[in-house]
Amino acid sequence: MKVDVLLGLQWGDEGKGKVVDVLTPRYDVVARFQGGPNAGHTLEFDNKKYVLRSIPSGIFQSGQINIIGNGVVLDPVLFREEAEALEKSGIDLKKVLKLSRKAHLILPTHRLLDAALEAAKGKNKIGTTGKGIGPTYTDKVSRTGLRLGDTEHRFDEKYAAARQRHLDRLASLGATPDADKLAELEKAWMDAIDYIRQYEIIDSEHYVNHLVDEGKSVLCEGAQGTLLDVDFGSYPFVTSSNTVCAGACTGLGVAPRRIGKVYGIFKAYCTRVGSGPFPTELFDETGKKIRELGHEYGAVTGRERRCGWIDLVALRYSIMINGVTRLIMMKSDVLDGFDTIKACTAYEIDGEVTRDFPFNLEDVEVKPVYTELPGWKTDMTSMQSEDEFPAEFKAYIDFLEKELNTPITIVSVGPDRTQTIERKLS
Ligand code: GDP
Ligand code: IMO
Ligand code: MG
Repeated sequence: MKVDVLLGLQWGDEGKGKVVDVLTPRYDVVARFQGGPNAGHTLEFDNKKYVLRSIPSGIFQSGQINIIGNGVVLDPVLFREEAEALEKSGIDLKKVLKLSRKAHLILPTHRLLDAALEAAKGKNKIGTTGKGIGPTYTDKVSRTGLRLGDTEHRFDEKYAAARQRHLDRLASLGATPDADKLAELEKAWMDAIDYIRQYEIIDSEHYVNHLVDEGKSVLCEGAQGTLLDVDFGSYPFVTSSNTVCAGACTGLGVAPRRIGKVYGIFKAYCTRVGSGPFPTELFDETGKKIRELGHEYGAVTGRERRCGWIDLVALRYSIMINGVTRLIMMKSDVLDGFDTIKACTAYEIDGEVTRDFPFNLEDVEVKPVYTELPGWKTDMTSMQSEDEFPAEFKAYIDFLEKELNTPITIVSVGPDRTQTIERKLS
């Protein structure tokens, strides 16, 4: 059995949560391998909407084990909030969710540092989600982080040392926290650690590999997107983890040879939250129309998402980096009412046309080269099969498959679980 990976090909919010939920019944295990509560994965079914941040999107189906892997950074307080809400909705979470001993912990002071570091950047701020992601991964790489497994031995001592380092850093940034406020945050944090102790904390690398040896199938759920990857994204306007397929290997301890299908998920257009380059961004009425029709407001922070046309230069790059074997196109219904649809096939930079994603998107003027295609002007939201697709939509799919040289195997036509159409592989 192989380990399949599902990940975002753009700047996040592609619809990963929805599709992981839809694909889960085909798997025995669903595992998150990186990121933390900066993620907001939305699922809709039975007229209810759920947003998951750290817990895998396989949690609503029955029979699967869900795992939070070693590559994830965990905020105990936010985890507790999310977990207790799921328990209230009737899920026997402690039975089906397991957490890696090696997952790093987000401390209250990490969040304070995230805010202080952003403030210090001024106009160059990244526009982080403010969840302490950067400082936590920084501690991990600096070899000073705290892991979930550290709560099992000499925890108070380790916590105090990390806390003092953070307070010193905050003081140097002129952001010393109010003592009472910090004490309150820390009390909630320690209580949440006690709550987490009720879960099975595992050596997830052994656990996952044993399951695969036994013939069980695993779906790895990515967070963020390839263009936010710390190595390959639009650095420095990225997150602090490897969001790409290789991140599933390091974030779960599965060997590259065990990776099977790689599902690459993208919207029929493109969005971005926070700062950083976005070549196909639209500042006009069309951009606004996409935002309103697509409800493009952040699931975590409520911020407006920047909107633009689909960027095939970026998608080709993401497909290459991840070794994508199957594409999934989301939110095609959002374009249902458009007369024409544009797709960026190349960039013009200093008079030169390139189809390759360049190192620098920031200090140069990037002019997208567009192909314009006819819109389908048909409500697709209740369609059940690809046979119902209008001719113009079929042409749009054909065009994308040729440009991206990869089959589109799932098309999503609405936020609900049921609004998902599988295509036959030819
Ligand atoms: P994720 O972070 O990749 O899981 O994506 P988000 O949940 O942050 O953002 C995707 C948003 O689009 C959510 O509000 C989903 O409910 C919604 N959504 C997902 N698929 C579709 C679709 O095909 N059509 C429409 N209209 N909305 C969708
Ligand atoms: P999901 O999993 C969209 C963005 C932030 C910011 C940058 C760095 O829901 O797709 P961070 O808090 O990670 O240090 O912020 O990355 N970002 C996301 N954008 N979707 C996400 O997750 C994101 N997670 C982080 O807006 O620009
Ligand atoms: Mg999201």
